[in-house]
Parts: sequence; C-alpha cells; structure tokens
Amino acid sequence: MAEFMQGLKRTDYCGELSETKAGSEVTLMGWVQRKREMGPFTFILLRDRTGVVQAVVDENSPEEIIRKTKEIKSEYVVAVRGTVNLRTENNINTKMKTGKIEVAVSELRILNESDTPPFQIEESINVSTELRLKYRYLDLRRPNVAKNIMLRHKTCQVVRNFLSDEGFIEIETPMLTKSTPEGARDYLVPSRVHPGNFYALPQSPQLFKQLLMVSGFDKYYQIAKCFRDEDLRADRQPEFTQIDMELSFVEAEDIMDVNERLIKKVFKEIKNIDLETPFMRMTWQEAMDRFGSDKPDIRFGMELKDITELVSDTDFAVFRNAIEAGGSVRAIVAEGCGSLSRKKIDKLVETAKTYGAKGLAWINVQDGGFKSTLSKFFTDDKLKSIADYTKASAGDLILICADKNKVVWDALGALRLEVARQLDLLDNNEYKFLWVTEFPLFEYSEEEQRYVAMHHPFTSPMDEDIDKLESDPGSARAKAYDMVLNGCELGGGSIRIYSRDIQNKMFGCLGFSEEDAAERFGFLLNAFKYGAPPHGGLAFGLDRLIMLMSGAESIRDVIAFPKVKDASCLLTDAPNIVEPKQLEELRLSLIKEEDDEN
Ligand code: AMO
Ligand code: AMP
Repeated sequence: MAEFMQGLKRTDYCGELSETKAGSEVTLMGWVQRKREMGPFTFILLRDRTGVVQAVVDENSPEEIIRKTKEIKSEYVVAVRGTVNLRTENNINTKMKTGKIEVAVSELRILNESDTPPFQIEESINVSTELRLKYRYLDLRRPNVAKNIMLRHKTCQVVRNFLSDEGFIEIETPMLTKSTPEGARDYLVPSRVHPGNFYALPQSPQLFKQLLMVSGFDKYYQIAKCFRDEDLRADRQPEFTQIDMELSFVEAEDIMDVNERLIKKVFKEIKNIDLETPFMRMTWQEAMDRFGSDKPDIRFGMELKDITELVSDTDFAVFRNAIEAGGSVRAIVAEGCGSLSRKKIDKLVETAKTYGAKGLAWINVQDGGFKSTLSKFFTDDKLKSIADYTKASAGDLILICADKNKVVWDALGALRLEVARQLDLLDNNEYKFLWVTEFPLFEYSEEEQRYVAMHHPFTSPMDEDIDKLESDPGSARAKAYDMVLNGCELGGGSIRIYSRDIQNKMFGCLGFSEEDAAERFGFLLNAFKYGAPPHGGLAFGLDRLIMLMSGAESIRDVIAFPKVKDASCLLTDAPNIVEPKQLEELRLSLIKEEDDEN
C-alpha cells in the first residue's frame, strides 16, 4: 500500500552523495533499481535523475522496516531516511560514483508501487530500440540517457544567458503559419474555420525573423521548433530544434564572430574545453576540392588530389570521356590499405557507386611495383607518376574516380569518411570546427530543370557577383556561411537581400514570376517596402550540437521524445487515424488507395 510523503523532505539527490556527507542524516526519494539480500543485510539500489546510491537494511532494524523491505520490488517509489556511512575498504565499489558510501536506513516509506517494467532499467541494457522508445519514460530513467537531456538543458541556459547579455531579444514566432522557403516538404494543418485551407508548420522561423528586423528589434533569437517532412537520418528528425537568430546592421563577419564566441562559451561552460577562435575559414570551392564535401571532417587528412592533368593524354575511355565532358579525375590515398582484401575493396567500389560513380579505379602501391585495375591502360611509369603526385608509398591504396565534378566529390568525399572509419581515425573527443563560406548561390535541379536556391531565396549574392545573376547565375556566390563540426553541418546562415531590385533578379533566376513571389512571400516583400535594414542571421541545429557534445550516435538520443525512421512516435502511436467527425468538421475526405488496409 502506498504511503504519503507527509513529514518528509528530500535533503539530497542519490547520485550526488559522497564521503563528505559521512555521518550525516539524509532523506532520499527515488526508484528501486535493484534489491539484493545477502545474509543479514538487504541492499537497495536507489535511483533518481542524478544516479544511484546503495541503502542498507540490516536484520536488527525495526520490524516495520523489515516488512516493507520485503514488500518492495524493482521500480517501486520509496523514501529513505538514514545515515551516510563510509564503506569498509573491501566493500568499496569502484565502478559506482557513490561506491565509497552507503545509507543505513532508519525510516522507509513506500510512496508507490510499480508493475514489473518491460526491461531492466540500468545503464547498460540489451533491449531493442523499439521497446526503449515505446517505454521512453522508463528509458529516460536511465541516468546515462537522462544525462543527455540534462546536458541539453544546461546548454540552453548558457545560450540564453550569452545571447541575452549580447543584447539579443527572445521572441516567439507562430507555429501555425504559411510555407517557409527552406525547400523541404511542409507539414500541413487543415483549418476548420477556413475549409480547404491549410496552415504549414514552419520549417524555420526564417520569414518572421526577417520581419522582426523590419520591426526594429535589431537582434532576435529563439530556441525554436522546426518541422520538415524529409527522410530521417541519424542527424535528421521531422521536428527538431534550432538556436535561431537574426541581426540588423551587420556583415557576415559580425555574425560569425558572435557565433564563435557563443560556441566557445558553451564548450567552456559545459565541457571545460577551450576552443581556439577564430575558427578556420574555408571557401566552399576549397572544401569541395580538398575534401569532396561542403561539411568537411578535418580531424584527419586524406585529401582529394586532382590528377586530371596527369592523365589528360590517356586513351582510357572512362577517364577521357569524363574529362571531355568537363569533369575531372581525382584520387585519395588510403594509407596502409594496400593489404585490404579484394572483398573489402569491392565494398568501397560499391560505396562509390551509391554516390553516382560509374566505377572506381584503384592502385595498390607495392615495393617496386603496382597492382591496379588500371594496369591494362597505363604503364607502370604513369602509375608511378600518379603515386608520386598523390604522395602514396608502398602499402598504400590509391582510389581514383572519374566523372562530373559533383559525382567525383560526392563519391571520394564519402570514401574518405568510410576509410577513416575503418582505420579508426575518428576521435569523438576531438572537436574540429570550421566555417565554410562563399557557397554557390544556386544549385541546378535536374528534376525541376531550373536553378534552386542553395540556401534560400533571400540569401544575398556576394557584391562582386551581382552582375552574374544575369550573365552566369550558376557561378554566382552567396554571402552564406555554415559552421561545421567534425563533418556535421552544425549551423548555417546568410546575409539577406534587402534591396527590391536584387530580390526581383533573384526571383527571376529561380523562375518565380512576380505573381508567384507575391503569392508565396508577398507579406515579406511588402514589409521590405517600409525600410528594411541590412540584416542577416544564422541557425544552429541544437540537437546536432548536443549529439556531438555528448558523443551520441544519433540526435534521437538527445531528444526526450523522438520519432523513429518512418517518422512515427512509438510511445503515443502518432500519427494516427482520427474520428470521422473530425474529418467532417474539417470538410476532409480520405482517398482510399487500392492497397490500403481495411
Ligand atoms: P538550415 O536549413 O541550414 O537553415 O537549418 C539550420 C540548421 O538546422 C539543422 N537542421 C536539422 N537538424 C535536425 N533535423 C533536421 N531535419 C534538420 N534540418 C536542419 C542543421 C542546420 O545547419 N532559416 C535558415 C537559417 C538562416 O538562414 O538563418 C535555416 O533554417 O544543423
Ligand atoms: P570497365 O571498362 O567499366 O570494366 O572499367 C574498367 C576499370 O576502370 C574498372 O575496373 C575501374 O577500375 C575503372 N573505372 C570504371 N569506371 C570508372 C570511373 N568512373 N572512375 C574511375 N575508374 C573507373
């Protein structure tokens, strides 16, 4: 039978008790992780959000305590009053943070009972992710899981304090709104009052934060929920959180500076790590050429080498065709991988193909010779010149890809990471930041047969490239910047267009007619008629930041109630069907596909 709390006040958290409390009386409240009987003693492992501590009941305790001790089971909620005692030398548990002490119980209350949980709630458990997420509230009781949520809380506090001290104003923006321009698919919400009309959940607060600049708030920030209906990956959830900001009367350098200081502060306060600022800067072109990625992992080298010139006189059709079509031939050197089995090399070839490469050539550099897929087409002298140019030595494996630049970058960029993983070159405790700048303004979409904005349509071109909007949009660069950490895009932003003339040219390049633009973003364009200040901003992915700081493998591990791969929530069973009456109210009817169930 559950008892009341009356007269009891918690004095301490379990996981925070230490030798310094020896001799004092404490009152703890929490969950029973485990109960063990050993001779005259019963040991109760008591847990709260900070960790566990051992409470001890001995056979000479008052009968009431003995009776209740017998009654309690795993995950019962109990209150324990007792004295903190030092454990004797041979009873110290070095694996437990509180392993030098234990609490001798003088009062025990059962505050609530518990059914047998579906899995043992301990740090290391061997249960499926599905079960953990179905019972996420129990999973969150595990201190190693709770730790990430607490880290998230602390980080948000540091962020809020820093930005507030810097003069930023926290302002909330609507969740029920109109489509925003980030380019993912929207989540839509039907309107009851306006049948047939829909709100879109924001993909980011982009348009509102720009409006707030027109309003004169000057420095805005928000820790904002964003919604994007896109395929999930380890670093992508359909709803995620941004640390979002916008500033007026600034240039890109000012925004990068305040954000470096923000991240420096977060790392110092949360992880006691002194980051060196300013972070490295690299143009997009350099990032692609050297690392085959616009979010390069610079914890290791293995840089791409352009060998187009070196092989330009070849008859080998694959290389020649790629070069003649304006592409390139590039290589990376996998150090010490000459001994890789054929099967493993074939796997690398397969990886390259998933990025669109039609094939992958390799040269195994040996003492005094070469083994290579290219031996049929190239003399040993030529292979040697490739090895020399790429600085490969005996025992190394050179991987070569020929194709359009984008395919070569994507394939070798991915192989570089794959090989680094295999060679164990990635240290999660090393934090290598950089800014990638001067992104292309546009990306050509083969699917839509038109240019699309690489960041979004309000991103300003670089001053020296404004003329290119008309003459050569494909080569125009943007005043856009991404902060990258260990191969992950942590945040990104840009200086925005505030001149109507440039904005119209931009829409022209994107193939938006004036009517299209007015229909989608009319309210913003109208606002810009009334004195828009020069402005720009940035948004960090908060989930990604916490994932990297905690060493978690997925942002799912740092979100209290995340969704799984198919965007469903296993805990609540969302999304789900609704009552016919609700559909009627919204004047919606469902189209039944033939293969739909029921
Ligand atoms: P962007 O679209 O680059 O920019 O997003 C900013 C940052 O948000 C994070 N992010 C995500 N995190 C988890 N799951 C997702 N599905 C997801 N999508 C994005 C990334 C990314 O760097 N409004 C602009 C910012 C600006 O220009 O100020 C924007 O949203 O870490
Ligand atoms: P194939 O003529 O397709 O059998 O290719 C012969 C060899 O050329 C393959 O074994 C690969 O090593 C190499 N190769 C094919 N396509 C490419 C490519 N796109 N880039 C680099 N090497 C390639």
